[in-house]
Amino acid sequence: MRAVRSHTPEGFEGIESLVYEEAPDPQPAIGDALVQVRAASFTPTELTWPLRTDRAGHERGPIIPAHEGSGVVVALGYGTAGLSPGDEVYGLIDGYRDGWAAEYVAIEARSLAPKPATVDFVEAAAIPQAGLTSWQALFDHGHLESGQTVVIHGAGSGVGAVGVQLARWAGAHVVGTGRASARQRALDFGADEFVDLEQDGWEKAAGQVDLVYDAIGGDVLARSPAMVKPGGAVVSVMAPPQTDRDDIRTVHFVRDANGAQLREITRLVDEGIVRPQVGAVYPLAEAREAFMAKSAQHIPGKVVLTT
Ligand SMILES: NC(=O)c1ccc[n+]([C@@H]2O[C@H](COP(=O)([O-])OP(=O)(O)OC[C@H]3O[C@@H](n4cnc5c(N)ncnc54)[C@H](OP(=O)(O)O)[C@@H]3O)[C@@H](O)[C@H]2O)c1
Repeated sequence: MRAVRSHTPEGFEGIESLVYEEAPDPQPAIGDALVQVRAASFTPTELTWPLRTDRAGHERGPIIPAHEGSGVVVALGYGTAGLSPGDEVYGLIDGYRDGWAAEYVAIEARSLAPKPATVDFVEAAAIPQAGLTSWQALFDHGHLESGQTVVIHGAGSGVGAVGVQLARWAGAHVVGTGRASARQRALDFGADEFVDLEQDGWEKAAGQVDLVYDAIGGDVLARSPAMVKPGGAVVSVMAPPQTDRDDIRTVHFVRDANGAQLREITRLVDEGIVRPQVGAVYPLAEAREAFMAKSAQHIPGKVVLTT
């Protein structure tokens, strides 16, 4: 098959290492489905993540990036049940395996969900990572409840925009943050308020809140514990929050490729509650340009590759 592979993580955050080339066809193992990829999406920094080995620590050789995508099931591994050839699916893959930037991907069937009927393959590919990360941040780790106030750092981003929509659906009061250029996008996705992180003293603008969901990190994360009321939480997908407060919870986590939660997200997409944000589309053969563009050009939302 044709695939995009990263040979070594060098150059511009590893992007120089991407080559569009022939690669071995993936073989679906027990519990896997073989999916013909229609669209794939990625996180620009993923080439630097410590995922160049398998779970046992063995080097995997050149890796295929793009942890999320959409496509059509064409074969099943031995004993794989619950799916059939011809099913239209989407999902997030275990990052220790080769990803979706290829003509075919072998992926655990339990990580897949039916593609939402109301969006095309390109929009579907933009959903799993943002949807699952935000679902787990808000509900599994943040314990967000109706009536509470949540601050979402990076509300105009691929991940944050879905977080805004899920938090709104859950009945929370949503304060989005980001650069001033993200204000309208965050409000359009359903934020009740927006706080410009480029203004002085931004951490006081929202008052004391129940939950901060951070998808920016750095100084923004460092100033976040001060925003939380006693009993509240800071949940970050960037780094462990640092604080000497013992009256709030702090969580750093890496998202889980949970197919059951993705099925819930499929329902919310088809009900019009969650809208994906696709900022640009590139052919698979131009994956290197796509990674560069997403890293350098402030493209809002996800960049999607099509086969
Ligand atoms: N732990 C996990 O499981 C997990 C899962 C998914 C994603 N992530 C991480 O979450 C982050 C967001 O992912 P994404 O796909 O949503 O990326 P993205 O679309 O590139 O979003 C990043 C957003 O943050 C904004 N931003 C960055 N620094 C900022 C600052 N100092 N002040 C204000 N705004 C700032 C960016 O605005 P500009 O474009 O204007 O700079 C952009 O809107 C990535 O770093 C990714 O690695 C972690």
